[in-house]
Order: sequence, then C-alpha cells, then structure tokens
Amino acid sequence: MDIKLREIAPLRVQTALLAVPVTDKGLGEGLVRRLDRQLKGKLNALVKRSGFTARRGTSLLVATHGAMAAGHVLLVGLGKHEEDGPHVWRVAGAGAVKEAGRVWADEAVFMLPPDQQTEAVVGAVAEGALLNTYRFTKYRSNDKRTGQPRTLVLGRTASGSSAALTRAAKRARLAVSGVCLARDLVNEPPSTATASYLSEQARAHCRGEGLKVEVWGKRKIEQMKLAGLLAVNQGSREEPRFIYMRYKPKGRPQKKVALIGKGITFDSGGLSLKPARSMETMKLDMAGAAAVIGVMSVLPELAPNVEVLGLVPTTDNLPDGGAQKPGDVIRYLNGKTVEVMNTDAEGRLILADALVLAAREKPDCMINLATLTGACIVALGNELAGLFSNDAELAGRLVECGRDAGEGLWQLPLAAEYREDIKSHVADIKNVGGGSAGAITAALFLQEFVSDVPWAHLDIAGPAFAGKDQVTCPKGGTGFGVRTLLNLLSGM
Ligand code: BES
Ligand code: MN
Ligand code: ZN
Repeated sequence: MDIKLREIAPLRVQTALLAVPVTDKGLGEGLVRRLDRQLKGKLNALVKRSGFTARRGTSLLVATHGAMAAGHVLLVGLGKHEEDGPHVWRVAGAGAVKEAGRVWADEAVFMLPPDQQTEAVVGAVAEGALLNTYRFTKYRSNDKRTGQPRTLVLGRTASGSSAALTRAAKRARLAVSGVCLARDLVNEPPSTATASYLSEQARAHCRGEGLKVEVWGKRKIEQMKLAGLLAVNQGSREEPRFIYMRYKPKGRPQKKVALIGKGITFDSGGLSLKPARSMETMKLDMAGAAAVIGVMSVLPELAPNVEVLGLVPTTDNLPDGGAQKPGDVIRYLNGKTVEVMNTDAEGRLILADALVLAAREKPDCMINLATLTGACIVALGNELAGLFSNDAELAGRLVECGRDAGEGLWQLPLAAEYREDIKSHVADIKNVGGGSAGAITAALFLQEFVSDVPWAHLDIAGPAFAGKDQVTCPKGGTGFGVRTLLNLLSGM
C-alpha cells in the first residue's frame, strides 16, 4: 500500500472512501457537521440510529450514494483522545484501512484534523495503516485476495512544505518493515524456521551500510564454550547457531547497546515434555530473536547514532536420545554452575551464554527479549510484556518508548525475596524456582549473568503472539518489541 500526503478538500475529493477521525466531543461539529449537511442530514441520523459515540476502536461507515464525490464516509472514533499519545492515531489509521478493505476501496483518504498535522500523528496513522495490511499467506493456495486499498492519502488542509511529514511517513514504513520481518519469522512453520534458517534470514535481511552479520556454527559455539546453548541443543538433530550482528554508525557513536533475543525455534519442553496443547504455538519461542533481527534489519536506513549489537542464540528444544536430563549441570563462561531441574526452562539457559558475551563488550546497556515464562502471561495477560531491570532510568525509558509504540510494558520486581528459590544443592543455582513467582525467578536467574551492566529483560511470552485477529495485527506473530526498541535507539 502506497501512502501519500496531499492537500485535500474533503467535501469535493474524489475517492472511494473518506475517513474522518472524530473525538467523542467532535460529533456534530466542524467537518462532521459539514459532511452531514452535504449528505442532507443522513450522517447524523445514522449516528443516532447506530448509537455511534466515537468510542476508540469503533467506526461508522456511510455510503454517500452520489451526494458527494467520495463514495463512502467513514467516521473513525478516537474516544477522548486528549489524554493519549500517538497510539490512538495508530489504531485509527489501522481501522480506516480495515474498513476501506471491507468495501474494496482502491483508494482511501484519511483526513488529518487541522490541529493534528504533525509528524507524530502522521507517523502513527501511517504506521497503523501499514501494520493493518500485514498478512501471512504464503501457505494458502487460494483466497489470498484482500480489499486493501492500493493507496492511502493522508489529507492535509494546509498547503506549504510537507517534507517533515513525508519523512515521518517514511520512518513509519521502515519501522513496519522491521515488524513484518519479525512476524514472518515467527509465523514460518517450525520445521522450516530452524536455527540455520534464522541465520540465513538474518544474513539476507540485515544488509547495508555499517551492518555486519556473523553466524557461528556448532564448532565455533563449542570453541566459545557456550555451554547453555550446547546443552539445550543436545536433544536436537538440528545444529545450533549463534548469530552475532553489529551495527556501527558513520560518525562516532554516542552509545553502545546490546540486544539479545531468545531463539528457540520450537519448544517441545525437551525431556520435561510439554503436553500437546501447550506445544501448538511453540514455534513462537523465537519471537525475541525475530524482534532483534527485525530491529537490526532497519538500522542502516534509520541510521541512529548508536552502536548496536544483536545477539541471537538459537536452537530447538527437543527430546532426542542425547537430550540433556533433569539433574545435569552446566558450567557457564562466567564460572557459574547451573543444575537443570526442568529442561522446559530452556530459554534462560541459552540467554545466559549471550548475556555473558554481551556484558564482556561493556555496552552502555543491554536488553534481552524472550518468550520466557507462562507465569508472565498469568501475571499480565497477552497485552503486556513483563519488564525487569537493574536500572531505573533504562526501565523508565523503555516504558515510555513502549507507550509511544502502543506496546505495553509493565515493570515487575527483581525481588530478592525469591532469590532463595533458585538455590541448588548441587550447583550454584538451578534453572527453576519451584515456587509460584515464575516470571520473577526466571528474571533473577538471568540477572546472575549480567555483571554490573545496566540491563533490562522483556518477558514477551504474552504479547509476542496474537491468539485472534487484531486491528494492527492478524492472528499469529506480532513483532512485539521492534517498534519500542526502534524508538529507544532513535532517541539516544
Ligand atoms: N517458551 C516457554 C514459555 C512460554 C509459555 C511462552 C507459553 C509462550 C507461551 C518457556 O520455555 C517455558 O516452557 N517456560 C516454562 C518454565 C517452567 C518450566 C519453569 C513455563 O512457563 O511453564
Ligand atoms: Mn520451555
Ligand atoms: Zn521456551
């Protein structure tokens, strides 16, 4: 879908669908009133009849039957948007494209209110619109058609330069390309999306000025003594990989950030086997890796003035004959030993290696993304990711970037009260808590490997995968985290 900015006279514009965002107070005022007059009172009558109150996420579609040049008018509810940041505009853009698709509109115009013709609003509307168009249809033999418009025009009322607004729309397209790459990687079936597939995809998509991808095979992983990754991989017939990406900006970078993604390409639980129902969506277990690859893929074009490392340990977690066993002990690079009590707590085992490597690079901060615990879903549901951090400023910045991105992060404590839960009789620590604070004990486990580097852990087990269609994302991989991280990096 193309996105264009154009000066638009809404009552005269020839287009298949004219989308008009309205707040709860805006009904019956301004443009809505003028449209109603043009439509001889039919618009307000329909608003009354349908009970449309401009609640956020709702819309009202009206056919104009020749009373106007536009074929349809769509009122897009913003709710009481005064309190909100850009996310309400993202949802509005997505809703407009969705409704345009329902009437097979080849082109739609989204009218930007005169006081909202800013970069933030244009960026958010464009982003929402583009996010809505994502589909994963490569395995469908038919029924691939959608009514998606070919062009979405963002309608301005003022003339004059729109260069900054055009840049904002371009930036939105770039961010969405990172999100869609992450979604594709998650949605790909697990027997295709293996560790070597992820590596090839990283190589193919992470190109451009300043960006380098290195892929370590099993031999190199052994040489580097990545004991956690090797332990989890023991039960698999697929070789593990460790993907090491590095982006260096042109000038002297202000900061260095390390991003680490959990890349379990399928989580059967290993010998601590999951029940069948819990395995159905376990191709999602590399969503952290997918988000990191998605972010890295857009850095050459986004060109933030930050050095960014992207680290992805990847393997599947299967119970073949050589599989690691409950009771086994792993010795890590930083000297710590871990007793594996449950082979289904495998994410933290492979992340530990990557955190130790990342910490050695002495970055200003490091952030890992992982579909780590079912317990985090119990705590926060599917809309919010758990955020754990040893650094209040980093945590605060992430929450803010998440809010702007429409990706909710909720901080949970690295509560020392539960540190005892991961003590082992045999080794320094064990890989499960045993108590009920599962998301917290997993985070406490990771903390053992971060030294004193400012660090944040995002447990994205809930929001990484949509169980049902949403306006900004169809059922399946969501690409959660990509836009939050891009916000963070571009603001550094
Ligand atoms: N990949 C799972 C966590 C998960 C569960 C992600 C559901 C998305 C949806 C992780 O490897 C896992 O199995 N965690 C266990 C930990 C337990 C054994 C301590 C869990 O949450 O049950
Ligand atoms: Mn698991
Ligand atoms: Zn897992």
